[in-house]
This record gives sequence, C-alpha cells and structure tokens, in this order.
Amino acid sequence: MIADELRIVGSTQTNVVMEAELIRVARRALHVRPPAPRKEGLGQLVLPFDRDLAWAATTYLRTPTRVVWDVYRSRAERLEPLYDELAADVATDARRLFRDGDGISVEVRRVEAFAAGERQIVGTVKNALVDGARRRGTQLHVDPNRPATRWVARLDDRGELVVSIDLGGGSLSQRGWRREAGEAPLREHLAAVLLMLARFDPRRDVLVDPMCGAGTIAIEAVLAARAAPRPAPALAALGLQRAEAPPLFPDAAPLVVGCDVDLDALSAARDNARAAGIGAEITWQRADAAHLRPETIADIARERGRTAETGLLLANPPYGERLAADDPDALVDTYRSLATACRRFRGWRAAFLVGTPLFEEAFGPVVGRPRIKKPLANANLRAYFLLYDL
Ligand SMILES: C[S@@+](CC[C@H](N)C(=O)[O-])C[C@H]1O[C@@H](n2cnc3c(N)ncnc32)[C@H](O)[C@@H]1O
Repeated sequence: MIADELRIVGSTQTNVVMEAELIRVARRALHVRPPAPRKEGLGQLVLPFDRDLAWAATTYLRTPTRVVWDVYRSRAERLEPLYDELAADVATDARRLFRDGDGISVEVRRVEAFAAGERQIVGTVKNALVDGARRRGTQLHVDPNRPATRWVARLDDRGELVVSIDLGGGSLSQRGWRREAGEAPLREHLAAVLLMLARFDPRRDVLVDPMCGAGTIAIEAVLAARAAPRPAPALAALGLQRAEAPPLFPDAAPLVVGCDVDLDALSAARDNARAAGIGAEITWQRADAAHLRPETIADIARERGRTAETGLLLANPPYGERLAADDPDALVDTYRSLATACRRFRGWRAAFLVGTPLFEEAFGPVVGRPRIKKPLANANLRAYFLLYDL
C-alpha cells in the first residue's frame, strides 16, 4: 500500500521540543505554520508528507536524529506476498523516488517479529524496489557505500512493515565536525535539545559551559543560533532540493564560553570548533568550575565588545557511571562546588543533564530545587534535565 508521511525521529522524551523546533523552522524558512503532528511513542512526530516541509526539516532541524519519508506499508506476514505487493506498488507509483541509474541501499530495523531473518527481508525489499522500478523503465542498482537514497524497512507498532527513505542519509546527530570525541561526549542532537529546553536565547543570553569536554554544547549553541543548513544529497535525488538554503539567522553571534579543567578536553574542543568553521567564535578557558565567577565572564564579554548581564550555564557534568565510578565522594564535592559557583550568577539560569540523584542532593542545599525536571535519556543512561533559576 502507498504511504505518504513525513516522520521526524528523535530521542525519547523529545517530542515536544522537536515540535517546537519544527514550528520555528517552518515559520522562518517557509513562512507557514506546519500542521499539528501525530505523536508516536515519546520520540517520533508524523505529518502528512509535504515537499517543502520535508526540505526544511531535513535541512534545518537540529533536535531529531532522523527525518524519513514513509513511502510504502504492507501487512504481509511472509516474504512472497511482501515482494508481490511492494513491487506492484513501486511499478504503479507516480512519485519521483528514483532517477534512472541511481544506486540504493536497504537496511532494516525492529523486524524481529517478522517471520523471516533480517537479511531475507533486506533482500526481498531490495528486489521489490529494483524490479518494480524496472517495470516503470527505471534501472536501479544496489550501492551500499554511496547510495543516492537509503531505504529503511521497519515494523511499526501495529505490526505493519513500513518502507521509508532516509532523507538525511544517516544520523542527523553527526554534524560532521567532530574530530576529537573527548572522554564522554554528548551527542550533538542532545546538545540541541538541552539548548531548546533551557530556552537559550542567543540575542540575550551569554552561554557558558563550565565543564565543556570536547565542546559539543558550545559549538551547537553557535550553529543552532544561526540555524545553519546541512547538505542532504538525498533531497537532490528526490527532486526536493532548493537552489538556496541560507542560514535562517545569519547574523546570530551569541557570546559563548567553554571551560574545562582538562587541557586535552579543551584542545579537542578547539579542534572541533575549528572543524565546524567557528574556531574564532567561542572563548575556551582552562578553569575549575569551582572558581567560575561572573566577573571572569564579564571580562571576556568586554574583550569582545559585549556585555554579559544575563545568561545560561549549561553542562553535562561527569556522571558516576562513566567518569567517577570509583569515587562518589569526589563526585559530590564536584557537584557542590559547581552549585556554589552557580550561586554567584544571580539572575542567570543554570541547566544540566545529569545521570545520578547525587547531583540534586548536592545542589538542593546550595541552589534550591530545579524549576524544571524532565527525564531525558543520554545514550543508554537514564538521565534528567534540570533547570535552576539562580
Ligand atoms: C561528561 S563530560 C562533558 C562532555 C561534553 N559535554 C562533551 O560534549 O564533550 C564532563 C567534563 O567535565 C570536566 N570536569 C570535571 N570536573 C571538572 C571541574 N571541577 N571543573 C571543570 N571541568 C570539570 C571533565 O574534564 C569532562 O570533560
């Protein structure tokens, strides 16, 4: 059966943030408000397919991990009827999903419940796409390394096999600038989610990451403020590309500072920012978060001809699980000194992605309770987003 939906996929618990970003991008890039999406699970938005929205979502969204176009669905439970239905759908489909001579790749996800192995499902979907296209006079070949379009088949919650084209051509979390990972880097789309949840306003807020590691939050803050476009070759293959894709806020130039005690981490952050093309736009400082003061940030602002009246401290501090597993007392000390430093930033906001209750216990007596506490997975770790008014 032909399907025609745009699916925006992110980490669990990020539906609301992704929808807010989608509205902002659609307004700015297309001058429209998108229709209200259907929410599937805690991390997927589904909308009727629209060419312009698909282009804008793939080019500009920063909080999701994937944007895909669901093009076929099947209730078939075995391979033969799946092949027959899919090949017939492709052969009669008038949409421009391929160009003659295109290479394609096919992968499957979440197909454990289907009565066949993964490789058999991949082979069947591939054959149906190639044979169906041939019946329309279009030659396709399989090219797993440099496909014009990547196809994904997965079972949805109703047990239907959904066949989609991955419009971003892979994980959107990888922005292409990471040269050095640091010890426990945050995935890039999660940095974007944190900035949205903390309502980072690049026009008003100075952004300081007091424990910046390889610099993900600081780099994302500059790029997200500008809403820089991302190239997506699949859009061209599908005729969805636009000639121009300018940054949505080209003049945005937030004041961003990244600090860390670890020199290697700072050098990784510098290399990453350079690779992202924003080497000169972030101030990196070797500093213990315990010693962070508003006066230091005000000095940095002055050197850049700016002021630092209000802002956002945003970090994912070391977690017990990964970085300080052997020494919970040292971890609590680190959190407590961070809380004491935060208190000096009166009128600012402070937000953190934390993976242990020790953080709130250390912060409570010094800073008080968070205004917002929201579960948010960090990779496979259970974590919370906490926002404090200082
Ligand atoms: C989980 S990592 C941050 C990862 C970072 N968001 C990234 O994307 O790479 C925590 C960082 O906190 C730093 N750190 C630990 N204690 C610190 C302290 N007292 N002051 C400043 N940085 C500290 C570590 O060096 C490490 O780079």
